Amino acid sequence: KSSPCVFSGIQPTGVPHIGNYLGAIQHWVSLQNQYDDVILSIVDLHSITVPQKPDVLRSNIQILAACLIASGIDPNKSILFQQSDEKSAKIKKASVGLLIYPVLQAADILLYRSDLVPVGEDQLKHIELARDLARFFNNQFGEAFPVPEGYIGNTPKIRNLKDPTSKMSKSDDSSMGYITILDSDDEILQKIKKAKTDFTSQVTYDVKERPGVSNLVEIHAAFTGKTYGEICDEVSDLDTGKYKLHLADIVIDKLRPIRDRANDLLQDKHQLEVILKNGKDRASVRAERTLKDVKRLVGF
Ligand code: ADP
Ligand code: NA
Repeated sequence: KSSPCVFSGIQPTGVPHIGNYLGAIQHWVSLQNQYDDVILSIVDLHSITVPQKPDVLRSNIQILAACLIASGIDPNKSILFQQSDEKSAKIKKASVGLLIYPVLQAADILLYRSDLVPVGEDQLKHIELARDLARFFNNQFGEAFPVPEGYIGNTPKIRNLKDPTSKMSKSDDSSMGYITILDSDDEILQKIKKAKTDFTSQVTYDVKERPGVSNLVEIHAAFTGKTYGEICDEVSDLDTGKYKLHLADIVIDKLRPIRDRANDLLQDKHQLEVILKNGKDRASVRAERTLKDVKRLVGF
């Protein structure tokens, strides 16, 4: 029986932003200390949908790995690896790739015998598929798989700074809408200063009526662990302009050490490749162990 494990995937589509950090990476780091392993698969869905130049892809994978480790993912506790692109290489047509994505995800969840799978709410139905398959197999052939649970963290979706009604995403046209883990102090300041707010000067939390300033309060809360009420009380003498400067200071202080560590790690690409190779080897051992057990139970 394998040890309790968390499995999650992330796409190497660019530098992670604070939505990824607060909504996913931060949770993975704390789960790492509660479970024997966190298995993080860098999923190159892009090679299924949009062809990426191999050198760009390689560089994005290294940047992502550096950002994850700098954020606290410990490659000794967690298994960080790039999902084999064999699978996607065989799937030439984008439409097919998108259709079977939930199946590939369910297969990975089972292959690593995952107990807990952090996902966005939209992916809970993918977990259902993995749960059904696990139960079916266990009933038919004997216990081989834990029935995985979906895990949704308590961070709300961080929204775009320029359009606070839509979610923050790497694929936005303007980089002013999101703050990445590698942004400089000045970029962070400029982006928060120019974040869309409204004509009320007080800082209050009201997502419906005041999505812009509420998004800033949510970012503030997620970085500090304070409640929205505590934050609004604490800054009651600041107008939104001054509040932005205050929040920028907080975000800069939180991201600076992560950015510095990530940049240090990116100085040594060879070391990053060694970490990914090691993750791959450990993931393969697990996968082979599962397949061996499955074959024995099925009677191959
Ligand atoms: P993106 O949408 O930026 O390309 P991914 O699809 O790679 O991000 O998602 C990686 C993880 O980050 C997922 O667990 C996802 O739920 C989380 N995530 C993505 N965007 C946000 C956001 N704006 N706020 C909170 N969490 C997010
Ligand atoms: Na651990």
